[in-house]
Amino acid sequence: MIIAVDGPTASGKGTIARALAAHFGLPHLDTGLLYRAVGRQCALNGGNPDDPFDALTACAFPDSLLAEPELRSEASGGLASRVSVHPEVRQALFRRQRQFALQTGGAVLDGRDIGTVIAPEADVKLFVVASVEARAARRFAEMRATGRDVTLDEIAADLAERDARDTSRNAAPLVAAKDAVTLDTSHLDRDQAVARAIAIAEERVRS
Ligand code: DC
Repeated sequence: MIIAVDGPTASGKGTIARALAAHFGLPHLDTGLLYRAVGRQCALNGGNPDDPFDALTACAFPDSLLAEPELRSEASGGLASRVSVHPEVRQALFRRQRQFALQTGGAVLDGRDIGTVIAPEADVKLFVVASVEARAARRFAEMRATGRDVTLDEIAADLAERDARDTSRNAAPLVAAKDAVTLDTSHLDRDQAVARAIAIAEERVRS
């Protein structure tokens, strides 16, 4: 069984994807982390994330980079969003994601284009959304908990900028697959969102 979980930054898709993977006993891939690694490697190379050649060169990042805590930062998220507009980068990361999706027994992948490009045949497709206000408040709480000095306004502005870039790019923009079920987590806490996602997935699997 392949489960695709797509949605914008801080919508709760990562939490939901991890919980679905645990529930169904499937391996999970956070595909955003791959783009974050490319963005970070590009910066380490002294490259320009808006330049397709520099971004493509950074796709040869070492796997050890995926374990770096710095990849979780807002700065890495911004770099990831910039390198991810290049079709060359998306192509370079395609095989790795596709192979993960097709492994025996199935998998859960979360990202932006899993249900539309990476695994259009997925058995379950969730499109997780939440208002900018709800997402900014969550991210703000996370950042403050890790001691980062940011304001709510800065986070909201950053989210809005990344949403605009992720949805308006030509290559595999963030868009719900036609057969995806939309789950709005704006007014749900973690447990409610996870319970709803599991119920949707189980219903899809039964039908
Ligand atoms: O999910 P995330 O915030 O870690 O993703 C970081 C950036 O990577 C996001 O702004 C867009 C890009 N991305 C993408 O283009 N396609 C994916 N499947 C996953 C992430």
